[in-house]
Amino acid sequence: MRPQSLRSKIFLDGGDAGETRDITAILGFLDGQTTNPTLISKNPQAKERLERGGKFTEKEIFDFYRGVVKDIYELIPQGSISIEVYADPSTEADKMLAMGRDMFSWIPKAQVKLPTSKEGLKAAEQAVKEGLRINMTLCFSQEQAAAVYAATRGAKKGQVYVSPFIGRLDDRGEKGMDVIAHIIKMYRKGDGHVEVLTASVRNMDHLLCALKLGSDIITAPYAILKEWGRQGMPFPDNSYTYKPAGLEDIPYKEIDLSKNWREYDIAHDLTVKGMEKFSKDWNDLIAQPLAAR
Ligand code: G3P
Repeated sequence: MRPQSLRSKIFLDGGDAGETRDITAILGFLDGQTTNPTLISKNPQAKERLERGGKFTEKEIFDFYRGVVKDIYELIPQGSISIEVYADPSTEADKMLAMGRDMFSWIPKAQVKLPTSKEGLKAAEQAVKEGLRINMTLCFSQEQAAAVYAATRGAKKGQVYVSPFIGRLDDRGEKGMDVIAHIIKMYRKGDGHVEVLTASVRNMDHLLCALKLGSDIITAPYAILKEWGRQGMPFPDNSYTYKPAGLEDIPYKEIDLSKNWREYDIAHDLTVKGMEKFSKDWNDLIAQPLAAR
């Protein structure tokens, strides 16, 4: 059962419906799921097929992804499911949009994931006008979150998520959790049309801290949600403090949310690296990689 004190929505970060089934049974609820190309490449059926020596064609891999998403949807029909477009650093907005429109039709509550890059934001601006629900992924800074807010101004509540990746900032010694706190604080000055989805959660402290901060949504991998369930789904009380060892604080910036999205400094090397990794993992599944054409 969903704990009464829980304000955040809890999503599973994964590409295997078997995990969705387990987590739903353990927690007694699940508000949604996030997927991405790397997670799909780790799906047991995809791995088994590759081990037998057969790579996918482009059509087959999209059919496979759609099949996984539909299986997840059957298990959590009320849940939001994020589906990520293919985007390497040279993929243009129009291509992302075409893929996004198709993916949006796969299930009733799809949320199309686009990168928080220039082309991704261009696609986002158009996508919300067309009524698509989107999840802006690979966000690493307050400026990028401000650009997401500005590019999607006018969207309905629930139509736009932004996914700051905290674990990847931690990996290089920066306190990723600060970005969540700062974006939540910055968005309080806005109209509330973008929901903050804490992503790249690596440990129980990330989950507890995001709960304490009141992140709208938290997506966490199987092992962490399983452990949270095993511990009785604890919620941090007033005495809880998040004190990770050896991570440098990220300072808060006063950012005006009323500008055009193109005026914000959205460049971030981790966004580019993230797109390179997602597209590589995707292309490794395909006999004739997308990037090679
Ligand atoms: O939701 C995004 C997440 O899957 C990325 O996690 O651990 O690859 O940084 P990670």
